[in-house]
Amino acid sequence: MSSQPGSHEDMSEEKFPERAHKHEGTVAVAESPFADPGLPPHEPRRQDIDERAAKRSERTVALLFTVSMLATIGFIASYVIFPIDKIVYIFPFGHVSALNFALGLTLGLALFCIGAGAVHWARTLMSDEEMPSERHPIEAEPEVKAQVLADFKQGAKESQLGRRKLIRNTMFGALAMVPLSGLVLLRDLGPLPENKLRHTAWRNGLQLINMNTNQPLRPEDIQVGSLTFAQPQGFSEGDPNYQSELAKAALMLVRLHPQDIKDKRELDWSHDGIVAFSKICTHVGCPISLYEQQTHHVLCPCHQSTFDLSDGGRVIFGPAGHALPQLQIGVNAQGNLEALGDFTEPVGPSFWERG
Ligand code: FES
Repeated sequence: MSSQPGSHEDMSEEKFPERAHKHEGTVAVAESPFADPGLPPHEPRRQDIDERAAKRSERTVALLFTVSMLATIGFIASYVIFPIDKIVYIFPFGHVSALNFALGLTLGLALFCIGAGAVHWARTLMSDEEMPSERHPIEAEPEVKAQVLADFKQGAKESQLGRRKLIRNTMFGALAMVPLSGLVLLRDLGPLPENKLRHTAWRNGLQLINMNTNQPLRPEDIQVGSLTFAQPQGFSEGDPNYQSELAKAALMLVRLHPQDIKDKRELDWSHDGIVAFSKICTHVGCPISLYEQQTHHVLCPCHQSTFDLSDGGRVIFGPAGHALPQLQIGVNAQGNLEALGDFTEPVGPSFWERG
């Protein structure tokens, strides 16, 4: 019976007698298609054989590092000299901020010169001899560490860092000065807040102005069940600080039946059942605007923090960490509502030193 094409017998060694006997008793040595061609002979560079050329390269590298230092000084000087709003025409960029242009140019030059100096140093003065390195298992044996250290020392020696003191000193100078640019930029973080976060525009005797009508608020304007928003007297939308001051001083007023007020201090700081609380949520500062008349709860729309205005603005739900600050109010000689001081604690989000 003949074998079927493709069966096991067809693929057996017996079907290939020539190949089976050709290498019998010998080890076949194949010609490797990836034979190591070896390294070409080293060609010395001009700097390797001519000390004057090496000196020229050294001076070039030192010059680049020196230019880097000057550019860093220029960066700092630009920051001081150019006003932030000065616009200049520079071809081909057109009208640009003089300060930004000078900062970018000088910092770019400082970094470029350090890079160019390092590259020129490596290409002309450091050893360029190629050395094969045999592969070994990756192990941190003590001998390997010793070898790495020896190689490092050898590299340091070949880079001529100790010998070329001019390069070494100017490179250290350039590297030490570049971070100064970052230090100068820290000034752009702006002035320190000092105690601005702890105080608002409210002061003793400032009238409460209705934010809708822009008129002084009188007690009779505020009815039980209504929510009224107020700002301090003397502010208008044209003031440069209007938004930032309003963001802290915005007030909401409700009238409660005095017997519904559970917190004694809240009652003491109210006027005829009218209580004034900061409108700024103590979670992350959204303006509160939803009032539930029956429960006297106000709800922040951002993350649903809920505060009880009949109980000292206490948090009863949500992520806010503090009660709403209350403003003590009274009535002045004209019968208008007025503040009897500032809030006694910071308004808005809970920051780390808030008492
Ligand atoms: Fe009010 Fe988050 S800002 S709950």
